[in-house]
Amino acid sequence: MSKTLYYTASSLDGFIATEDDSLDWLFPLGEGQDTGYDAFIAQVGAVVMGATTYEWLLRHTQQAGSPWPYRQPCWVFTHRRLAAPDGADLRFVQGPVAEAHPAMRAAAGGRHIWVVGGGDLAAQFHDAGLLDEAIVHLGSVTLGRGRPLFPRRATTPPWQLLSARPVGTGLVELHYRLPRRGGVAAG
Ligand SMILES: NC(=O)c1ccc[n+]([C@@H]2O[C@H](COP(=O)([O-])OP(=O)(O)OC[C@H]3O[C@@H](n4cnc5c(N)ncnc54)[C@H](OP(=O)(O)O)[C@@H]3O)[C@@H](O)[C@H]2O)c1
Repeated sequence: MSKTLYYTASSLDGFIATEDDSLDWLFPLGEGQDTGYDAFIAQVGAVVMGATTYEWLLRHTQQAGSPWPYRQPCWVFTHRRLAAPDGADLRFVQGPVAEAHPAMRAAAGGRHIWVVGGGDLAAQFHDAGLLDEAIVHLGSVTLGRGRPLFPRRATTPPWQLLSARPVGTGLVELHYRLPRRGGVAAG
């Protein structure tokens, strides 16, 4: 069944990047193979991200001379006109996430929709009752301040913990099912 998933990594104090968008603290904490990223991305049929995340990816792939990393169609939420790299299947959109979600689902073709981030965009999907699960790789570092993991108060009912497993020496993978708005968990 196709799900909409927020798959990300966070510091212990709930930040997915520093305030100047650095992820340098994250990379020493675990390898992609350890986190199960390859198995995860194989199940993803559509990717969605906010403008800051997109610009970070663009900057770092260009600096490294690497190609755009996703073969899947990718939705970028932005109010601006942003450059697009060669070979990337990109759709720049704005407004309510619920309006774009049916097209993502259709493009995903039964595979999952990955909400890459940031936290507020993931929360917009949750607000719209569209976020099924969250997979958070919690790192054993604190940042003090930065870009928040999920800037909402979500207390009742709490997220349902499906699994927790150590990854390498520096990460714990926490897998949650999220209650739908109104308290009904996704099947
Ligand atoms: N730790 C990890 O695994 C991980 C994962 C993902 C991202 N990151 C990092 O975390 C940071 C996230 O940045 P962020 O918190 O600023 O979030 P973001 O979601 O990447 O970007 C926020 C921007 O997206 C646009 N946007 C969001 N919702 C929109 C909507 N409904 N309609 C139109 N535009 C919309 C707006 O851009 P404009 O109005 O300016 O166009 C907004 O300022 C980045 O540094 C990224 O690299 C880390």
